[in-house]
Amino acid sequence: MRAVTVSGFGATPEVTDRPVPEPGRGEVLVRLSAAGLNPFDWKVIDGAINDVAFPLTIGTDGAGTIERIGADVTGFQRGDPVFGQFSKARQGRGSYAEMAVASEDAIAPAPRTIALSEAAAVPTAGMTALNLLDRIGDVDRLLIVGATGGVGTFTTQLAAARGITVVATATGGKADLMRALGATEIVDHTAGPVADQVESPVDALIDLVSDSEGLHGLLPVVRPGGTILSPVFAVPEGGLPGVDATNFSSAAGAGLLERLAREIDAGHVRVVIGDTVTLSQAPDALARSRAGKARGKTVIVI
Ligand SMILES: NC(=O)c1ccc[n+]([C@@H]2O[C@H](COP(=O)([O-])OP(=O)(O)OC[C@H]3O[C@@H](n4cnc5c(N)ncnc54)[C@H](OP(=O)(O)O)[C@@H]3O)[C@@H](O)[C@H]2O)c1
Repeated sequence: MRAVTVSGFGATPEVTDRPVPEPGRGEVLVRLSAAGLNPFDWKVIDGAINDVAFPLTIGTDGAGTIERIGADVTGFQRGDPVFGQFSKARQGRGSYAEMAVASEDAIAPAPRTIALSEAAAVPTAGMTALNLLDRIGDVDRLLIVGATGGVGTFTTQLAAARGITVVATATGGKADLMRALGATEIVDHTAGPVADQVESPVDALIDLVSDSEGLHGLLPVVRPGGTILSPVFAVPEGGLPGVDATNFSSAAGAGLLERLAREIDAGHVRVVIGDTVTLSQAPDALARSRAGKARGKTVIVI
């Protein structure tokens, strides 16, 4: 089968021929319709995790139909449309491929109201958004820095649906998109320091971009005792003065995917696809993501 692989850390991704993986106990083999691109995919190539077998098929997220069921799988049947996470880096497996294996507890029935190619864009970014908002709880004003990307577009919509006032960063043409997703105030991060442009203090900041210096610069806009979550691990050891600042690791699992499917099918969340590419265009798409040029999600149609 065709897959996008790397031969080692730092290697250039390329389309290669790989054997179809075998589903083990508690696993299913899925014929993928599409894979979803996340920044984590190129971070793995750059060495973000050690426990990797090469050649490594890149990618975590995907959606497709179940081709084969492994032993002891009870919740799915052949032909079921599913979405979820397929990363098995330890075995060299991933989702940028015609077929991929997932653990039964890492997938869920795909949302009924969108195409599988859209569902592939949901798992990692959508679950992270749900987790971030669950952690933040009941707040009035939320600033999202990096709001126009995968995690940001889901977080903006889910927060707005909860009645939270969302202040979102966006440049130029992306401002209209963010308003349509439910953001109330837009801050252009290229027009000057974000902290100077936020009208009044926020209860919480989700920052998907800034380093620790950037977080220090944003402290004046977070109310005393407010919350800062950094999924990019920019909170320095010892935290930040006057706020509850935490580096954030997202959880994953079938229950979160089922919640996302319900939100999507209820029309509360739409999937913002910025780019659709083929397997052979995936290496260039990874390079664009690494350069920080994402608008919504990139989907690799297989
Ligand atoms: N810890 C965890 O569990 C976890 C989970 C998921 C994701 N993450 C991490 O979270 C980060 C975001 O993920 P993602 O999937 O949302 O990435 P993404 O889709 O690439 O989005 C990043 C967004 O940030 C915007 N941006 C870049 N520089 C900016 C700046 N200086 N100020 C404001 N916005 C800026 C970009 O828009 P412009 O080009 O318009 O600026 C882009 O839309 C990644 O580093 C990812 O690895 C961590």
